[in-house]
Amino acid sequence: MKLNIAVLPGDGIGPEIVAQAQKVIDAIAVKFDHEVNYTNALVGATAIDKVGNPYPDETHEICMNSDAVLFGAIGDPKYDNDPKAKVRPEQGLLAMRKKLGLYANIRPVTTFPSLLDKSPLRLDIVEGADFVVVRELTGGIYFGEKGRSEDLKKAFDTCTYTTEEIERILKLAFSYAGKRDKRLTVVDKANVLATSRLWRETAQAMEADYKDIEVDYMFVDNAAMQLIQWPKKFDVMVTENMFGDIISDEASVITGSLGLLPSASVGIHTSVFEPIHGSYPQAAGKDIANPIATVLSAAMLLESLDLLDEAKAVRDAVNESLDAGVVTEDIARDGKASKTSEVGDWLTNFIKNN
Ligand code: IPM
Ligand code: MG
Repeated sequence: MKLNIAVLPGDGIGPEIVAQAQKVIDAIAVKFDHEVNYTNALVGATAIDKVGNPYPDETHEICMNSDAVLFGAIGDPKYDNDPKAKVRPEQGLLAMRKKLGLYANIRPVTTFPSLLDKSPLRLDIVEGADFVVVRELTGGIYFGEKGRSEDLKKAFDTCTYTTEEIERILKLAFSYAGKRDKRLTVVDKANVLATSRLWRETAQAMEADYKDIEVDYMFVDNAAMQLIQWPKKFDVMVTENMFGDIISDEASVITGSLGLLPSASVGIHTSVFEPIHGSYPQAAGKDIANPIATVLSAAMLLESLDLLDEAKAVRDAVNESLDAGVVTEDIARDGKASKTSEVGDWLTNFIKNN
């Protein structure tokens, strides 16, 4: 098969971790006889510095014309501490999501047996936890009307959802639950927010079409609590944009390292695959960042193109590397840390030789 992949390394550690995922994809391509063409494109602070736009039109064109997008990370501290900055790297990510119609962000949370002790939670609480957060990604307060009053003493952000937007993400979440343990938790704040009440109403109306799925409804504050207390209780959680942003970061620490979790953003046009962590600027250029979340994102990318054996080969290699202790410093034991590039090389060799 011929694969055209847009590569958007972005900022901070983005280029280093994406390079490892590319090495892994290349090894897979050789092993399974595929031809991969990469097209690199600018995004984030790097794109602002070079062309003044965090998601340039050219990058959008490249994404639109590719089979999938492999994305690193965006964000630069020079913008974080400047609330008055006119353009921000994050706007690039939001523009990409909107323009590609990526209305769903899928974040699977699984534990790795060899790393259970890295979780801040007790072993008996996390062992066997396995769930997916489905986050709505192109609506809600992120994209609603926002502004500042003339005297600058008032600011507002509006949360808006239409039935159509809610239905399409719920459909996807129901179908995910159907392929898993058939349990869906709809997370909202229906006791306070009108948009949440529309979410709940819409989900309740759809239940009849998915009789085999057990649906429950949970307020987001309660969900935040239960996620830590009983992570094993969840199968698929679906929620609106900002709740999903918060819940999915919370969920990620359950497994022990933010550096392990991949994600897929899917919707109308080309899907985007990216680690859930940020640009980790303190580590940029040091060859120490954990590439596994990006490598597992590459596995999700392969899966999305129906290359299931290929995706499995990537996951097998990752599991072997974790068991063998070939890991970066965030999850290393006894000071035995490998470099980012060494982990990438190990995975590549494992794929070649197995
Ligand atoms: C994420 C990030 C982004 C978000 C930021 C960088 C805009 O936190 O992908 O979860 O809030 O969606
Ligand atoms: Mg986030």
